[in-house]
Amino acid sequence: MTLWHGRLEGGMDNALAELSISLHYDARLVVEDVAGSHAHVDGLIGVGILTSDEAVVLHAALDQARDEIMAGEVVPGPSDEDIHTLVERRVTEIAGDLGARLHTGRSRNDQVATDLRLWTRSALSDIARAVIDLQAVLAERASQAGDHYLPGYTHLQRAQPVLLAHHLAAHAWALARDVDRLCQSVHRLNVSPLGAGALAGSSLGLNPAATAAALGFDRAFNNSLDAVSDRDFVAEALFDIALLGVHLSRMGEEIVLWSSDEFGFATVDDAFATGSSMLPQKKNADVAELARGKTGRLVGNLTGLLVTLKGLPLSYNRDLQEDKEPLFDAVDQVLLVLRAVTGLYRTLQFHEDAMRSAADAPGAAAIDLAEFLVANGMPFRQAHSVVGGLVAQSLRGSGSLVELVTAHPELGPTAAALLAPGVPVTNRTTPGGAGPLRVAEQLVELNRHLEVEKSHVSALPVLPVR
Ligand code: ARG
Repeated sequence: MTLWHGRLEGGMDNALAELSISLHYDARLVVEDVAGSHAHVDGLIGVGILTSDEAVVLHAALDQARDEIMAGEVVPGPSDEDIHTLVERRVTEIAGDLGARLHTGRSRNDQVATDLRLWTRSALSDIARAVIDLQAVLAERASQAGDHYLPGYTHLQRAQPVLLAHHLAAHAWALARDVDRLCQSVHRLNVSPLGAGALAGSSLGLNPAATAAALGFDRAFNNSLDAVSDRDFVAEALFDIALLGVHLSRMGEEIVLWSSDEFGFATVDDAFATGSSMLPQKKNADVAELARGKTGRLVGNLTGLLVTLKGLPLSYNRDLQEDKEPLFDAVDQVLLVLRAVTGLYRTLQFHEDAMRSAADAPGAAAIDLAEFLVANGMPFRQAHSVVGGLVAQSLRGSGSLVELVTAHPELGPTAAALLAPGVPVTNRTTPGGAGPLRVAEQLVELNRHLEVEKSHVSALPVLPVR
């Protein structure tokens, strides 16, 4: 029997039923759905629809239905279209006539919006925690990296030497913005739609502020039409995840490069590598490639939802049911990637010798020569051209850069000493720069920031225990 058997005759055609049913994926909202119903039942006492004794029976029936559904003990029937329908059906079987009062003053429209906000709230908190785990590994590997350095790149051309710690920390700072964004999204979504009914509220005197508080929301909706039709929070969650995915993808791409024979900067631990089914010698960084590959899907989930939303008139439209699969998929996939990338970085072996010799080409300190000339009063453009000329001369075979610099009247042996291996990176003294002094400060700040992030995440709203 459908929920609307009074209005429409006969059952649904199979083709519609198959199109319409969402239970196979929205069953994962069962905990949130039952929590919302508990709050709603208490609200119904407040307006005299239920006595306290009746509410006790309904609360128990809700818990029982939830536990049975989670244990797979409730066999879905053809009319159990979604999780809301299934819970209500089972509660009515358990509590009889009382179950038929559960949906008073409520629609699946405000119910599903409530459930999904609760679910997204805890999913984003989980993701933020997993991001912090990855940041902590990066921070730890950075502090272990000591004074090791590698070429810093622009345009994938060697540019200036940077400390390995600086490089690893750069990724951790990008992830810090992800954590911040996830926390802000949680705060912004923490508004309860419950009480908006189908679209306009009800005549029953329900108190949305009370149900909001019972579910750990900061407040209730201001506008019932907006409450049932707003999926901005899903779009924001998908954006946060997509951008986090972009960061993970860039990290993955880097490991693919670094672990190649061409770079030789790192070796992936066997536990995070795969072999080839045909080529016996192969060891592949599939984790890194999947981190990169999954991101296409994360961006697709965001794009798909935005397109779903763009044409919808107020208020609820059934199109909105298409919000869940991209969201669930994005959350599942990004958590998988985060855990694997965290393990990848935890166990990655760095080849400091290869990094060092790639960074020690004298050209990498050309800027230090130009800045030496500038310090002695030469305008930078002129200094740039003097040093550029020496580099070109040495490439043409008129001597090594060190020889040319030593012989140059305005440079000489003091300037040539700037080219010595290991020296250039020590001259990166700008606050936030790539040299040892500043990187040591930065790592202190990064670890302090991690503690702040942890406190923000542990203060995120959660479902109150009943
Ligand atoms: N399964 C639906 C969804 O996910 C629940 C709301 C159905 N509302 C309705 N008026 N048919 O959006």
